[in-house]
Amino acid sequence: MAFFSRSTPAAQPEFQPEGTLAPNALIGLRNLEKSYAHGTSRTYVLRRITMDVKEGEFISIMGPSGAGKSTLLHIVGMHDSAWTGDYYFLDQPVHRLGAKDRAKLHKQHIGFVFQSYHLLDHLTVYENLDIPLSYRDIKKAERESMVCDILDKFAIVGKKDLYPNQLSGGQQQLVAVARAVISNPKVILADEPTGNLHSSQGKEIMELFRKLNETGTTIIQVTHSEANAEYGSRIVQLRDGWVVDEP
Ligand SMILES: Nc1ncnc2c1ncn2[C@@H]1O[C@H](COP(=O)(O)OP(=O)(O)OP(=O)(O)O)[C@@H](O)[C@H]1O
Ligand SMILES: [Mg+2]
Repeated sequence: MAFFSRSTPAAQPEFQPEGTLAPNALIGLRNLEKSYAHGTSRTYVLRRITMDVKEGEFISIMGPSGAGKSTLLHIVGMHDSAWTGDYYFLDQPVHRLGAKDRAKLHKQHIGFVFQSYHLLDHLTVYENLDIPLSYRDIKKAERESMVCDILDKFAIVGKKDLYPNQLSGGQQQLVAVARAVISNPKVILADEPTGNLHSSQGKEIMELFRKLNETGTTIIQVTHSEANAEYGSRIVQLRDGWVVDEP
């Protein structure tokens, strides 16, 4: 049965030596692997991922549950450092950076929408939205106006003083997306950003991503939705940790 069949890995792009990236590449992954050890055995969840993401691309990552989509996005988002291979971001060798430099790099350039939202429970909606701005050198008055603008744009002004556990799942997802885009990051990484939204709200988020992409933001989204994937310029299929050719 096709559902259980293991897919053939896609032909890997020619391995490029360390330090060389495709022209305009913002992100370069070379032979990236992640595995978990269980006693004496090892389970691989990402296998020999070699890919470039050019500045201004909009990529959709698709694949069945457990394929490794979130794992890959977390590595690209620099939340996870337990992997092997090479990862270049803006020509910086992430694989050689220490935790502090990695954190600085992703706080500066990456907006992340977590599959499970990851809002800070002890902070209000307003305070959660202010966090990414606090990493930048932005004056307090300007930060206030940016938070107010985004609250308005996402129609959540009335929720600004509530805590995440006082919001519905969909509302938390909206705040999570707002938090990822508020500081105009160079790259947005979004893990099923519309999974919990009504279809019209989901479409609005996709339209927002389209507009941000048109003005130069690089976007990588994970999605199970064919319609959402169509917003992207390229689809990357993952199966059992491998990038594969066939859908
Ligand atoms: N701590 C762990 N130990 C062992 N295996 C793990 C661990 N964490 C995750 N995995 C495995 O990694 C694989 C990939 O998980 P991942 O969350 O990346 O999948 P996904 O493609 O995002 O799936 P979904 O569509 O359901 O979100 C899964 O098979 C999962 O069981
Ligand atoms: Mg996932």
